Amino acid sequence: MDNIIVRVMTSDDIDQVVEIEEEAFSSPWTRKGFEESLSYDYSRFYVATNDKQVVGYIGTYCMFDDVDITNVAVRGNCRRKGVANKLLEAVLGYSLEKKLSYINLEVRPSNIPARKLYEKYGFEEIGIRKNFYTKPVEDGIIMQKDMSK
Ligand SMILES: CC(C)(COP(=O)(O)OP(=O)(O)OC[C@H]1O[C@@H](n2cnc3c(N)ncnc32)[C@H](O)[C@@H]1OP(=O)(O)O)[C@@H](O)C(=O)NCCC(=O)NCCS
Repeated sequence: MDNIIVRVMTSDDIDQVVEIEEEAFSSPWTRKGFEESLSYDYSRFYVATNDKQVVGYIGTYCMFDDVDITNVAVRGNCRRKGVANKLLEAVLGYSLEKKLSYINLEVRPSNIPARKLYEKYGFEEIGIRKNFYTKPVEDGIIMQKDMSK
């Protein structure tokens, strides 16, 4: 997709991000959840925009030497066009710049697109969180990217 720009998310983006979140997840974060998260000094969220609108976002919490990816989603009609690649590359770039050690996340075993995305960038499966997800109940695969590799 042409004209995709990735930039740090601001509170002005929340309405569109909530729209994408609600389309993508069965237990979506609320507007208040995003507002609170953006106020934390350890949070760093990015949005991807085209000429018209926000098409995707990625949320992270940076604590000590690690980054936790809290959520990532792309508008249904904008998928498979490289938007998530660009969002993840923004987080990888930031992690490199800040010399962070690990990037961590959880993913549903059934979420093949997301697992393929993370594998592409060198994330490895390091454990399972039993019944981590609801609606439907499913384990969470813990994936980690070792930034020294
Ligand atoms: C997962 C998600 C963010 C991917 O976004 P996207 O913009 O479509 O992804 P991209 O086009 O940038 O693709 C990046 C890589 O992801 C993988 N991928 C994405 N969609 C895929 C699919 N349907 N099947 C297989 N692999 C897929 C591929 O490895 C792809 O690399 P490639 O382009 O070199 O083949 C998107 O499907 C989404 O929003 N899903 C719903 C929300 C979600 O599940 N978030 C993850 C929670 S852990």
